Amino acid sequence: MTVSGAKNAVLPIMAACLLSDEPSIIDNVPHVTDVVTMMEILRRLGAFGALSGDRLTITPGRFQGTVAPYDLVSRMRASICVLGPLLARKGKAQVSMPGGCVIGPRPIDLHLKGLQALGASVAVEHGYLVAEAKQLKGARIHLGGAFGSSVLATGNVLMAATLAPGTTLIEHAACEPEVVDLANFLIQMGARIEGHGGPLIRVEGVSALHGVTYRIIPDRIEAGTLMIAAAIVGGDLVIDGARAEHLGAVIDKLCEANVQVEKLNGSLRVRATQPVRAVDITTLPFPGFPTDLQAQMMALMAVSQGMSVLTEKVYPERFMHISELSRMGASIAREGASAIVRGVARLSGAPVTAPDLRASAALILAGMAADNQTELGGLEHLERGYHDLERKLVSLGVELERISSNT
Ligand code: EPU
Repeated sequence: MTVSGAKNAVLPIMAACLLSDEPSIIDNVPHVTDVVTMMEILRRLGAFGALSGDRLTITPGRFQGTVAPYDLVSRMRASICVLGPLLARKGKAQVSMPGGCVIGPRPIDLHLKGLQALGASVAVEHGYLVAEAKQLKGARIHLGGAFGSSVLATGNVLMAATLAPGTTLIEHAACEPEVVDLANFLIQMGARIEGHGGPLIRVEGVSALHGVTYRIIPDRIEAGTLMIAAAIVGGDLVIDGARAEHLGAVIDKLCEANVQVEKLNGSLRVRATQPVRAVDITTLPFPGFPTDLQAQMMALMAVSQGMSVLTEKVYPERFMHISELSRMGASIAREGASAIVRGVARLSGAPVTAPDLRASAALILAGMAADNQTELGGLEHLERGYHDLERKLVSLGVELERISSNT
């Protein structure tokens, strides 16, 4: 089966379309509700988006809007990535303050620091972030925070800097493949960017960007979820589109856990013929083990042989799934930013509710390894970021049925 396009790549790239008046065409767009929310944000700003199959055409025209409203930002924090393009094109952006979310506090200080360094003034008024700049100007910016680099702050500064006269140097830039995809999209639009994929990105401002046709990278988190699914049922799965270079830490940990991962041409084959061994995992910014696979890996460790420690170094509060996994018989104790998992011989199917997107996938994987039936509620979380996951999992021989949808 084939991995869909990356949700976390397409969202900032959709925002980047605002950097030009000309239409852009984005291919390999996943059918997930976060994309629909971003289309709605662009529509409210005065740009037009049309999705046909997996091709999305965005026509910014001479959009006039500068406000990303509360009802949409509260639905999806990634809405914040219109901040950079709006400032660059309109000299003004009003974006509802995102606040915390179920995976813990999610500050935006690095976004603000970066845009201020480029010359923007920023204030908070009536729950909205109001940023203004008559003219952005290239600058040297250190974007490292208490938890390392920030994916969307790097994206925001990168987008704003493309049209800022002079040179911008982003130090401690995020190195995630989704940042690289955004940079490649911007370069195709005419931006001058070097160093993306590394911690120091250099941007030379240009006066205008043009529309392009661009194909989104495969979703490494979906690919990783499918790899862990194969491991949890002792299956044998070929995942087309999964890129080994985006999944190094995941492949390494699965191999350490006794799961065989074979790199084929353009795909990965995952085979779990031996019992899965417990391994310790620490989430880190790329190329470290991704936080977006921590919950799924916890489901696997719950049925592994031995004891593992899973430590969150990106979102120290991202452990909402522990209580639901425990309801299925998992033995997990939380110690601060770590979870200590004692593998059990089997999980027992139960009604559970997904607290967030990645936890929803973890609970499905746990249900696949459990006896009897597991009924998962909160599917609206799953639909935010996974396209057709249940159909993809059926090829592993499990029975999955969608009874109803909340969206
Ligand atoms: N942080 C700050 N200040 C900031 C921004 C971030 O301290 O101004 C901290 C965060 O609190 C966190 C760390 O920096 O501790 C990294 O957060 P980051 O900014 O990189 O997260 P993000 O850009 O808001 C993206 C993904 C998340 C993913 C993280 C980390 C998108 C749309 N979202 O969020 O994806 O977990 O990077 O890789 O790209 C998901 O898909 O389920 C998801 C949550």
